[in-house]
Amino acid sequence: MDRHKVLINREHVKEKVAELAAQVQRDYADRTPLLIGVLKGSFVFLADLVRALDMPLEVEFIRLSSYGAAKESSGEVKVIQNLNSSVEGRDVLVIEDIEDTGLSLSFLLNTLRDQKPSSVRLCALLDKPSRRKTPVEIDYLGFTVPDRFIVGYGIDFNEQYRNLPDICYLEED
Ligand code: IMP
Ligand code: MG
Repeated sequence: MDRHKVLINREHVKEKVAELAAQVQRDYADRTPLLIGVLKGSFVFLADLVRALDMPLEVEFIRLSSYGAAKESSGEVKVIQNLNSSVEGRDVLVIEDIEDTGLSLSFLLNTLRDQKPSSVRLCALLDKPSRRKTPVEIDYLGFTVPDRFIVGYGIDFNEQYRNLPDICYLEED
């Protein structure tokens, strides 16, 4: 069993989610944004974020091909579960767990922009900028994290650890 250590505790995460929600609520006043959660890693973050938002909004999910059991992106991205509604004319806010190389999200943001939404912004809980291969603009960011393998708060390693309430990292042996 890999060992995990707490990097950002649940209280700190809760405060940050409230801050992000306040920014989103201010920026999208009088609009009904379409929040698109990138599965599976964003599900806990998205669930907390929407409950901190006191405004009209809609939620959709999209699933991209993942790392599988690897700790590193292959760089090849595919949509493996698509949206059920059109984004044309919508104010889209993509909700992501962690920006690493940026390959998944630059692919997704380009794909969404081709569908003529009114606006597209990105909200990411975590950013690992040291690993970036493609620039991605994050409009709403929770925390910048070091180059560690992160788990917990929805984020997995090989499908495990998503249920940890804190943001943790796996210790290397
Ligand atoms: P990117 O295309 O390399 O930016 O990959 C982003 C996706 O890889 C994230 O949405 C996560 O699902 C996954 N990922 C990146 N870093 C980590 C990590 O430290 N732990 C778990 N998953 C990660
Ligand atoms: Mg992800």
